[in-house]
Parts: sequence; C-alpha cells; structure tokens
Amino acid sequence: MTYFSTMYRNEELYKSKNILAPMVRVGTLPMRILSLKYGADLVYTEELIDWKFLKSIRVENKTLQTVDYIDPTDGTIIFRTSGIEKEKVIVQLGTCDPNRALKVAKMIEKDVAGIDINMGCPKEFSLKGGMGAALLTQPEKAKNILKTLVDNISIPITCKIRVFQCIEETINLVNELVSSGISAIAIHGRTKVERPQHSNRNEVIKFISNKINIPVIANGGSREIETYDDILKFRELCGASSVMIARAAEANCSIFCKEGKKPLDDVISDYLKLCIEYDNSPSNTKYCVQNMLKELQETPRGKKFLECQTLEQICAIWNLGEYCRQKQIEFQSKGMIGRREVCPDMFSPVRKKLRTDDVTEHKCAFIRVNYMSDPELPKSKLIAHCNKLKTKPPKYETICKDKLFRSIVTFDGKRYSSNYWEKNKRFAEQGAALACIYSLGLVEKKELVENGSILE
Ligand code: FNR
Repeated sequence: MTYFSTMYRNEELYKSKNILAPMVRVGTLPMRILSLKYGADLVYTEELIDWKFLKSIRVENKTLQTVDYIDPTDGTIIFRTSGIEKEKVIVQLGTCDPNRALKVAKMIEKDVAGIDINMGCPKEFSLKGGMGAALLTQPEKAKNILKTLVDNISIPITCKIRVFQCIEETINLVNELVSSGISAIAIHGRTKVERPQHSNRNEVIKFISNKINIPVIANGGSREIETYDDILKFRELCGASSVMIARAAEANCSIFCKEGKKPLDDVISDYLKLCIEYDNSPSNTKYCVQNMLKELQETPRGKKFLECQTLEQICAIWNLGEYCRQKQIEFQSKGMIGRREVCPDMFSPVRKKLRTDDVTEHKCAFIRVNYMSDPELPKSKLIAHCNKLKTKPPKYETICKDKLFRSIVTFDGKRYSSNYWEKNKRFAEQGAALACIYSLGLVEKKELVENGSILE
C-alpha cells in the first residue's frame, strides 16, 4: 500500500508540467528561480558531475538563505539552491557509477525535489567517462544506477535520454530503464549524433508515450517554440505528459508565461536582480545574458556589456548598478560566508589589509579595447606624467577577493583607486591608474563617458 501511494506521488510531480531543461552554465540558481517565477513548474539544474559533488562540503548560507555545496579546494560553488525551489528543483547528475551516484543522492536528497541521471550528453568528456549518452548502449549499467537510487532514495528518480535511429531499439532501452522503478523519463527526440538543426523525432516520443505507463517528458522542440501555445502544441504532437524546454528558455525564459513572452530588457533586469540577490558569479551572469542578447551584442550597448567584468558593471547597464553595490555591501556587513571562511588559507598570499580611509575613489572601469597601443594605457600615461614631473614612480598595492582584484596606486603621496573589482591584477592596476589620471585631470570625463569607462 505504501509502495503504491509513494509511486503515485512520485509520478504526480512530473505530470502536466512545463519544465526548464538541464543546461550547463545556464541552469544556475537565478535562471531557475526566474523560470519558476514566470511559470515553469519544475526546473532542472545543469548537469553536475558526481565526483565534484562528492568532494564538496554543504554550507548553509544564512545571508543569502541558500544551501551551498562548495569545493573546499578552491571555493567554487558547485551547487547553490534556495528553499524557494526546494519542491521544484531536480538535480541532474552526470555519473557512470551506482555507488558514487548513491552517495551524492544521499548528500542532497533533503535539499531537492528529485534526481535525474543524464543519459543523453554526446560530449566527448561525458562519453570518455562512460557517462551521458555512453549509458544508452549499456542498458544494464544504466538500469543498475537508476535502481540503486530508486531503492535507496526517498525522492523521485528520473533519467533523460536521446533516441536511437531504430524505434525498436529505443523502446527496448526505455522498457529496461522504466523497469528500474523511475518516476518519469525525459526523451530528447534526436540521436546521439544529431544536432539542433536536425528535426526532432516527435513521432518517436509519441510512440513511446503510448507504450509506457509513467510520465514522458518531451524534449527537443525549441526550434518550433516561439510562444506559450507552441509549448502546448509540442506536448500534443508528442502525446507526452510534460514538456522540457532548453534553448527557447535560454533565450528568454518568460516563454513559460501563460500571458505571453515579456520584453527581453525586462527579462534581463529580472534576471540580474536575482543574480545580485543570490550573489551569482559575474562570469556566469555574463554568459547567460550573452545567450539572451544574441545578435544584440553587436549594438553599442551590447559592446559595452561585453567589456564588463564585474557584476556591478553588468548591472549598471540595466540601471541596477547601485542596487548591486548596496546588496554587496549588505552581504559583506552580514559577514557572508564566502570562500575565505571555507578555506581560510586560500587568499593568504595576496590578502593584505589595505587601508582605504584616505583613498580617492572613482567609479571608472578599465576597458582594454579602449586603448589601441601601450603608451595610451593609464599606467603608461601615469608613468609619462611622473617622468615629466621628475617625481617618484607610482606604487601599486593589490588585494584579491573571490577571484576579483582591486588596486590602490600611491602617487605623489596620495592614494587612488577605481571602485570596480577587476578580473586580474593587471587590469586592477590599470583601473587604479585610470582613477589617478582622471583625478589629476590628465583625462577628460567626457572621454571616459564616451568610451564607456564611466557609466552615466
Ligand atoms: C544543453 N543540454 C543539456 N542536456 C542535459 O541533459 N544536460 C545538460 O547539462 C545540458 N546542457 C545544455 C546546455 C545548453 C546551453 C544547451 C542549449 C543544451 C541539452 C538540452 O537539455 C536539450 O536536451 C536540448 O537543447 C534540446 O532541447 P530544446 O533546446 O530543443 O528545448
């Protein structure tokens, strides 16, 4: 009796749902929360490799109200989740080993709604490691992984596969996997070697949907999905229980809105607010916004965006720079658990205490493409100025925090800095030099506004 009621409840989770597909780098916390806000019913994480999880430590981040799985060797956040998505987030695992998969599942089962095993990834990294699509041709091993999890884990287990050229072979595989007791199966209607430009085999998904009695999640339809109604049409064409969407959501995740898609700028603003609130890394944020902007990266604003290196710089373009700054100050004042607390030695070589009380700060960013030759660089200009005045050369001090750098330059007894954090020490020094030459009047504000170094 208990068995049947559990099975029923598990399957329910995947019935009639619109789902954000697993997408490497895209499916991080801000994108998942935004998709839910816009109407997605379930959200998958990007594929997370089992051994990476296994070396991570679980930290409750009281400031952000998140649970973080952190790599203690370099402080990288492997998986960040929030209570808001707890009932709706499915972690997708990349694995080829039932024991490792089980260990990870035990670690995370109280934090998430379900666990999915990736059996569709055609990338060399996965195939070489016996993961992803490599499992399609090893049905016994694939089933063993699923069954180990189904038998020992309290939350639903699913898998995501690709189809074979031969429908018979596909249904044989599906039957084998379903016999493990999984709660649903996601089917991407392309073979391992097919690419997005190939048509999706909706009829194969339909055939399977009619043959098996657990929910089928249809995937692969983004090329034909422009509106919310197209999601419904795709579900219908595949006779599936649910639909999983990747590329259409990567481009604009308001595709999940029943009332219709929102303007891209609104979506980017909503997304950036979440990136600020969940302290998302600048590189991940930039990657996701780039995938939304696509050809708009060629516009003047797009080009300015491409030069951004810090979260604050990115946010400033959508008028959220000040919000970003305030939040970052708030997080710091609450003593947010960051990488330093997790691995205190990590920053010791470069972590000096810098006095900042007497520093003249300017909000100007060093943007490399603005300088065509070395003599034009801020540091070169400052040196040239020193030579002219016959004064001591400038001295730079740099601090590093969370993989970002900030420098203070001392020139003629005064100290200057840009208050943007940069991605490396060289850029941070150039930023400080820029703040200095701007302060000294060696460069005009108008010029800096025009080349995007100062955002108005
Ligand atoms: C993917 N896909 C994917 N699939 C998966 O099982 N795990 C993953 O981590 C990823 N990562 C990923 C990243 C990006 C940027 C894209 C575009 C796709 C494949 C994806 O989930 C889906 O199966 C295909 O994109 C087909 O669905 P759509 O795009 O037609 O909705």
